[in-house]
Amino acid sequence: MPVAFLAYPEMSQMLVSELKSRFNMELSDFTVYGDLFYTENVSPFACEKYPYWARTTAINPKFQKFESIGEAAKFLKAIQRNWASYQFSFFRRSSLIQEKLPFINLKPKSFPFEIPSSQIGLFTLIDENKMLYSETATSPLPSGYFQFIEDHENPPSRAYLKLQEALVRFAYFYKTPLPDEKSYCFDAGACPGGWTWVLRQLGSRVFAVDRAELCDSLMNDSSVEFLKHDAFTLETDKIGPFDFVFSDVICYPERLLNWVNLWIESGRTKNMICTIKMQGEIDWDLVEKFASIPDSHVVHLCYNKHELTWMWHKD
Ligand SMILES: C[S@@+](CC[C@H](N)C(=O)[O-])C[C@H]1O[C@@H](n2cnc3c(N)ncnc32)[C@H](O)[C@@H]1O
Repeated sequence: MPVAFLAYPEMSQMLVSELKSRFNMELSDFTVYGDLFYTENVSPFACEKYPYWARTTAINPKFQKFESIGEAAKFLKAIQRNWASYQFSFFRRSSLIQEKLPFINLKPKSFPFEIPSSQIGLFTLIDENKMLYSETATSPLPSGYFQFIEDHENPPSRAYLKLQEALVRFAYFYKTPLPDEKSYCFDAGACPGGWTWVLRQLGSRVFAVDRAELCDSLMNDSSVEFLKHDAFTLETDKIGPFDFVFSDVICYPERLLNWVNLWIESGRTKNMICTIKMQGEIDWDLVEKFASIPDSHVVHLCYNKHELTWMWHKD
């Protein structure tokens, strides 16, 4: 069964590097269509581990010839309702096919939004009269991607987008509500305050820890308690309990792994979202240790760059 990996925009080098170091595959194993990497050599993926730096993976994609836009749309529609395209050329032709398919909302989203649980297929025109298509793709997002409508005025850093996306995905994975006005959250590595700002927008109380202070508006917010401290040396039984524990600390992943295990063992939170910052070469064994924590997910977000996001929820 073939597969095709679609890299995040401008991150195909990261995908290539992951395929080499994690799956022992060379670029020559693939046929490359823009950011889409197609292979029939599926043995490394038989265990259903797919690359993090693919925004979606098309499972068992097939080639299909067609004469007209109408014929292509009719062909896809006969398979299922939901389709999104990834295009690297033939943009106009591809949009015309998409327009003839049942409506999919591809507009930038406002936070929060719900990721639909219905399956969405992926198609790509590889020449004027031939497409690569797959009715099954690993991501529930259209072509594995979305963007938020951005707020350029209020958040103290762009990092707020990362937490918004992580929360949307968290709700999708665990079918659990977002933090709200009843929630008490620990934000580790909070400065200048993008994540704390998101949590305050949701009405939560926040315990924010960093070596540097947050922006003034958050320092003056009576629902934000700030502590200037190393977030990792605070003892779990001396603070909290917390509804959610977050970390966006820049640190070695080993240190983060020890810390999340302490929180899990403490029983003093049921929800965690942490950025795994990569320093140089990625230690895949270490990423695997995060991924193998029961009830957790490791994902690369649309708003992550050279980092991954780990999330965990205990019922
Ligand atoms: C990427 S920034 C966080 C951005 C923040 N999440 C936001 O939304 O604005 C990483 C932060 O981690 C902090 N940091 C690094 N090591 C830390 C530690 N051991 N304890 C607490 N904060 C730490 C840095 O001071 C820095 O502000």
